[in-house]
Amino acid sequence: MDLTSSPRRRLRWALRHGIVRFGARRGARAGNLAARLMTEPALVADPFPAYEQMRAQSRFVPNGPVWVAHDHDLCTAILRSSDFGVIGGHDGQTPPLLTRLALLAGPGPVGPVEPPSMLAVDAPDHTRMRKLVTRAFTARAVAQLRERTAQIAAELLDTMAAKGDAADLVADYASLLPATVIAEMLGAPVEMRGQFLAWGAGAALSIDPGVTYSEFRRSEADLRALDTWMRGHFDNVRRRGPVPGQDILSDLVLARDEKGALTDTELASVAVLLLAAGFETTVNLIGNAVMLLTTHTEQLALLQADPGLWPQAVSEVLRYESPVQRTARVAHRDTVVAGEHVPAGQLVIMVLGAANRDPAVFADAQRFDVTRVDAGAHLAFSSGAHYCLGAGLAEMEGEVALKALFDRFPDITPVGVPHRRPTRVLRGYDAMPVRLTASVREPA
Ligand code: HEM
Repeated sequence: MDLTSSPRRRLRWALRHGIVRFGARRGARAGNLAARLMTEPALVADPFPAYEQMRAQSRFVPNGPVWVAHDHDLCTAILRSSDFGVIGGHDGQTPPLLTRLALLAGPGPVGPVEPPSMLAVDAPDHTRMRKLVTRAFTARAVAQLRERTAQIAAELLDTMAAKGDAADLVADYASLLPATVIAEMLGAPVEMRGQFLAWGAGAALSIDPGVTYSEFRRSEADLRALDTWMRGHFDNVRRRGPVPGQDILSDLVLARDEKGALTDTELASVAVLLLAAGFETTVNLIGNAVMLLTTHTEQLALLQADPGLWPQAVSEVLRYESPVQRTARVAHRDTVVAGEHVPAGQLVIMVLGAANRDPAVFADAQRFDVTRVDAGAHLAFSSGAHYCLGAGLAEMEGEVALKALFDRFPDITPVGVPHRRPTRVLRGYDAMPVRLTASVREPA
């Protein structure tokens, strides 16, 4: 069965993206705000005024059959409720016709947001897979990686310094730092990090619902290439003999082969998720932070005067410019959540980026303030069962990367207009040319 054949791929696209794309465009033409947020580039670039308009409308803003939640209380309650699960996480949620068409279309490549990815399944499968990898992400494990992360930062900054005015903050630093850290944690070859980033960019496209057919085709091709590489790598690990505790992929191969704790597809899926999640999000945290701090220089001055504020500043960047703007859940049964009735089967989008600017929780929520003491109440890492496994790692990487960058280049400035990623779920930059040092004025 050729799963890459054009008619099957077109059907997969139609089911996963085409229907959503059609509905969103129709909704946007009719003026629906939530639909316009999906389709209008200007709103994707700056969604925050639209979030405030939604806040003024109602707690759930309809977008066709989908409901959009934006307040902190409601989003938190849904994410923590056992009455809700991830899309496709439970059997019996999909109408029979769609199930038949999906069978005809065949499965796509293993991806970060498709079952059996941990992100896309509910308990008990979710719990079983998550348990296999939590040990590598505990506070203790992350603390042990801090020194090595600082070394990686210093090496990358040396290379940037050598590039001078040709340096790009995203390509040379914000993407390579987390990609190196996660490649080392997984035991994947660090020299392949450029290739991982290229495949990851394709994978990231597939996260947005409603992408074009050509974006979908690229994303499937990149995910297939990553999956093929990953399975070949597992064979290499088996040939040289996996050692427990050596790296995450060795442990996962052992869990599959010796304990039968995972299927082959689950093994590939956990590996692809960890690799992609390891850098596709932290790159946005670092890029967004550099933009914010170089355009709010009084906030940067506060950090330079008191470096103890860096952890708080990272939380504030996550709150103010959340790298993951939205996620989704489906109600398993009729329920009442944060005082709102939700019928069984209802799909709800939670706009984390809007919840993080909810004035009921954050005073003067539209202000970027690195001294904000409650910034850590943000939902940038979600909440509940799927709370980001790498949250502690990402915070550590953000603190180390940003402090090292501004210590080395206190006057670093973006040159021209940085290029935003076109994605709607992930918010960040894919290019940011920078000038590393302030130009020195020659004495007259
Ligand atoms: C600033 C950086 C990051 C942000 C903003 C972020 C955000 C998120 C969010 C919002 C979710 C949950 C989505 C949902 O509830 O539907 C999530 C899950 C996840 N994240 Fe992160 N993440 C970041 C960095 C990382 C890193 C460095 C890793 C390391 C591998 C990672 C691994 C994961 C994994 C494995 C999950 C799935 C957890 C589960 O389903 O139980 N993340 N992340």
